[in-house]
Amino acid sequence: MTVLEDSPFVRACRGLPVTHTPVWFMRQAGRSLPEYRKIREGVGMLESCRRPDLVTEITLQPVRRHNVDAAIFFSDIVVPIAAAGIDLDIVAGTGPVVAEPIRAESDLARLRELVPADVDFVTEAIGLLIAELGKTPLIGFAGAPFTLASYLIEGGPSRTYLKTKAMMYGAPDLWSALLSRLADITLTFLRVQVDAGVSAVQLFDSWAGALSEADYRRYVMPHSAKVLTGLLDAGVPRIHFGVGTAVLLEAMGEAGADVVGVDWRTPLDEATRRIGPDRAVQGNLDPAILFAGWETVERETRRVLAQGKSAPGHVFNLGHGVMPETDPEVLTRLVALVHEVSGS
Ligand code: CP3
Repeated sequence: MTVLEDSPFVRACRGLPVTHTPVWFMRQAGRSLPEYRKIREGVGMLESCRRPDLVTEITLQPVRRHNVDAAIFFSDIVVPIAAAGIDLDIVAGTGPVVAEPIRAESDLARLRELVPADVDFVTEAIGLLIAELGKTPLIGFAGAPFTLASYLIEGGPSRTYLKTKAMMYGAPDLWSALLSRLADITLTFLRVQVDAGVSAVQLFDSWAGALSEADYRRYVMPHSAKVLTGLLDAGVPRIHFGVGTAVLLEAMGEAGADVVGVDWRTPLDEATRRIGPDRAVQGNLDPAILFAGWETVERETRRVLAQGKSAPGHVFNLGHGVMPETDPEVLTRLVALVHEVSGS
């Protein structure tokens, strides 16, 4: 249960001086790696998340290959809501699909509270991982209430979030009850991970960028704040990330984050002006840049590192997850470049 305080990753999250800018990639454990595709053959996504042996191996694969400064626990944002009673599946190429979406008050009963024993497999996997990882910190994560609610209400991925927004604006009491329950589940799920030994947590509000700042502050932020401030005494850095969140960066920091994740649309110096001087940033190379040839990767990486210097701490990452088609060798080279350019 010890946070790896001396690691460049945790130090950058805390805004402390580092020997080099730490780097890891969202979705580093996954389909860009042939060894991942091999080990997943014939095993469903949810099943693989429930098998500590597989979780351990898949989490370690990108650490071995790329020399990243942190591991991210292999799981999915819908794992805790499946453990809390919702019938769902993760369909390859589509994402989470919920058998019976939540649309009315009477549906809420199907989403019960989460107790730590529901996710014993997570505690077990993290225990195995901490032993293997040594000095490399492990990042735990969860989906934020809004992003989880969008899957539960829509029944699957959405481009417009029509049903989600219809409930948010049209049935605010039901909305608030649902998000409050999701906040409790998320907080319990992250507590389990902290108790098992992760060195940081990331709250993914991937789809919050669909909202205006005013609506985010009114309908979403109190619930995300309940999760993030609920972890204040846990002593681990808290990262808060979303896509398309340029107008939300300040509020996402205020919600209780130590580090704000920034997508590729906002340069890190501009993001830092919005977020303020008290929080570190994470990001934000466009994942598509990795397909544009090495010269471009190098130029853009140097730009991101230079702009990241205006923040009190910078954790290098992509602006969103690694695309499945990415050449893993480009990722390995990128890690070496970040270390070399930023190293003292
Ligand atoms: O390497 C890591 O980052 C750790 C593992 C991880 C997964 N999902 C594994 C996964 C993490 C951190 C997530 C988070 C997640 N899941 C988010 C937030 C991050 C983001 O990208 O914004 C979201 C929105 C989900 C929901 C979800 N699960 C989607 C949209 C998909 C992709 C659908 C597809 O197949 O393209 C999934 C499936 C999923 N989660 C896969 C992986 C490795 C692919 C499934 C497979 O390999 O069969």
